[in-house]
Amino acid sequence: MQPTEIQRANQSYRLGTTITEHLLLCEDECPAASGQFTRLLSELIISAKLISREVNKAGLADILGMTGDVNVQGEKVLKLDEFANQALIHRMERSGLLCAMSSEENSDIINIPDNMPKGSYVLAFDPLDGSSNVDANASIGTIFSIHRKIEKEGLSSLDNFLRYGYEQVAAGYFLYGSSTMLVYSAGKGVHGFTLDPSVGEFLLSHQNITMPERGAIYSVNEGYTEYWDERTRAVVNYFKSSKNERGKPYSARYIGALVADFHRNLLYGGIYMYPADSQDPHKPHGKLRLLCEAAPLAFIVEQAGGAATDGKQRILGIKATELHERVPLFIGCKADVAKATAMLQGE
Ligand code: AHG
Ligand code: MN
Ligand code: MN
Repeated sequence: MQPTEIQRANQSYRLGTTITEHLLLCEDECPAASGQFTRLLSELIISAKLISREVNKAGLADILGMTGDVNVQGEKVLKLDEFANQALIHRMERSGLLCAMSSEENSDIINIPDNMPKGSYVLAFDPLDGSSNVDANASIGTIFSIHRKIEKEGLSSLDNFLRYGYEQVAAGYFLYGSSTMLVYSAGKGVHGFTLDPSVGEFLLSHQNITMPERGAIYSVNEGYTEYWDERTRAVVNYFKSSKNERGKPYSARYIGALVADFHRNLLYGGIYMYPADSQDPHKPHGKLRLLCEAAPLAFIVEQAGGAATDGKQRILGIKATELHERVPLFIGCKADVAKATAMLQGE
């Protein structure tokens, strides 16, 4: 008797395709993919394993609570934010694979020290996304975006970051949830891997993730309703009052960690919104950062058949003008994002 789809998936998971095997297979299929890129992802994976280890013992170690510092965005820095940032910088600056990095936690570009070898990739990351959830033991994550260095005389390091999102060669995130996962895309579909702690490897658990045309979930912080303009309120009301494809109302789900909210909606179908808070002088463009949050997740969502806009245009079609630029974000199933975007444009 032929094994069923589930039996096959189960067997392949238990026998395990490791992330390294998967990357090597991709290299074979795509001659443009280089061993350098595989090594870059491997370095990110080691950093994420270190972060995952600290996240998992956060309640035990003396690592909870504030450092007392405030980051470049004026936010309180948690000790785990700092650890995650240092873990990534330490590993990546020694890798020989990067020419520069940018972190949500650092106001300036992080250049590779003179005594370290340089490479041809540019990395932007949010070391710990959703870190206000740490003390409550809710899911958090690390988001990354990879560009190839522009090979042109006279360009500054900054020029390598101020790019269109569609130029990314890969993007992904690690989710520190009930299990630790890696979800990434290098432009050939979206693949998910789950860390098996007993073998210490990320094993392929979600091959070729795709999103439905319409979802059944809307995710937004409705506590800010009074800050939104009329059109934004109308969009949220639309999702509250319309029915999904099964004739049921949309469910409201909001963890407060972009990466965790995004991941759930990627798997179940839905739309995540962080609108511009037009009445709030501190967040006229919303809260989320283009380079290390919106653009990498937009790259993934498009690869999964979904869409992402800032309420006007495609996120991947925006050319960054500053390192810590913020954008409103509407991301998820294609039809839901199209509807939200059309309503925001007064259509
Ligand atoms: P970070 O922890 O990297 O600063 O990001 C927090 C972000 C994002 O993860 C989340 O979606 C959003 O903040 C939640 O913001 P509100 O509390 O304003 O809803
Ligand atoms: Mn974040
Ligand atoms: Mn962060």
